[in-house]
Amino acid sequence: MHRKWRQPILFVGGKGGVGKSTSTSAIGCMLADRGYRTLIVSTDPAHNLGHLFHRKMTGKPTKLKENLYGLEIDPKEEVSHYLSSVKQNLKGLVHSHMVQEVHRQIDLAGASPGSEESALFDRIVNIILEEKNQYEYLLFDTAPTGHTIRLLSLPELMGVWMDQMIKKREKINNSYTELLNDGQAVDDPIYDVLQRRRVKFQQVREILLDSSKTGFVFVMNPERLPIMETKHAIQQLEQFDLPVEHLIVNKILPDGADGNFLLKRKEQEKKYLQEIERTFKEKQLLYVPLLSQDVASMDQLQEVSTFLQ
Ligand SMILES: Nc1ncnc2c1ncn2[C@@H]1O[C@H](COP(=O)(O)OP(=O)(O)OP(=O)(O)O)[C@@H](O)[C@H]1O
Ligand SMILES: [Mg+2]
Repeated sequence: MHRKWRQPILFVGGKGGVGKSTSTSAIGCMLADRGYRTLIVSTDPAHNLGHLFHRKMTGKPTKLKENLYGLEIDPKEEVSHYLSSVKQNLKGLVHSHMVQEVHRQIDLAGASPGSEESALFDRIVNIILEEKNQYEYLLFDTAPTGHTIRLLSLPELMGVWMDQMIKKREKINNSYTELLNDGQAVDDPIYDVLQRRRVKFQQVREILLDSSKTGFVFVMNPERLPIMETKHAIQQLEQFDLPVEHLIVNKILPDGADGNFLLKRKEQEKKYLQEIERTFKEKQLLYVPLLSQDVASMDQLQEVSTFLQ
């Protein structure tokens, strides 16, 4: 593994527009150039990885360059995929005259708040378990801060929720067993599905909590609000024992900037950079200058990556 990017799984987060996709892609290019097989996963519903690499991306890995692959998760697609698998699982268990009503209930559940998030989380769990052996690095480009934190705290919440579901199911099974089966245990496919999901979540939780396997990187700009938000986000993650090692300070005005307007901005920026150093003194800070243009080509990504070595 690369000395700096020592964890094979990396989540990149931060406020909207600070440069998460750019940074994730630049890290990906750098690792790929060093010969590491790398997969970039965009978990942001408003994808821009495809635009950045000028490729159409899908839910399956697409080759972006030698050693570098990318995929985009579409939460809406994940929800409908998930709902049809639930319907499939229930086939044969539900009386035919009830099927329509049960499907209606399932569709309603799919439209409820949080369903896209949990479908997204399910997909992340599967990617981690299925792809971690095919790639040396998995880089997750996440949606703006609040969302990421919620997502990453989901294994905790899910754990509690799954326990309740499984208990409930056990209770139902026990009463069935007493009533119908002369005390013999009944096979319950739903119970099995829940148990399998639980095992998967448990495995991924352990990977997420293992700081030799998973790293969290925050990107921010030298401005007041991103600094405050990053501080808050780091506290929240650390509350879940998910320590943040690296911070990328992006879009720093270049040294050569001149003119009265820019000099004034640079003066202000200096204060924020000092604040960043003070506030995050235990973190590894990586500084990336503002380029003269948006980052939209492989060469520009390469340029950004020289600051992330
Ligand atoms: N160092 C840089 N120099 C110049 N432009 C930059 C730099 N970093 C990012 N940009 C530009 O800033 C814009 C936002 O960057 P990017 O899309 O990486 O941010 P993001 O955090 O992923 O945004 P979102 O929250 O919308 O996903 C893009 O147009 C990108 O090209
Ligand atoms: Mg982005």
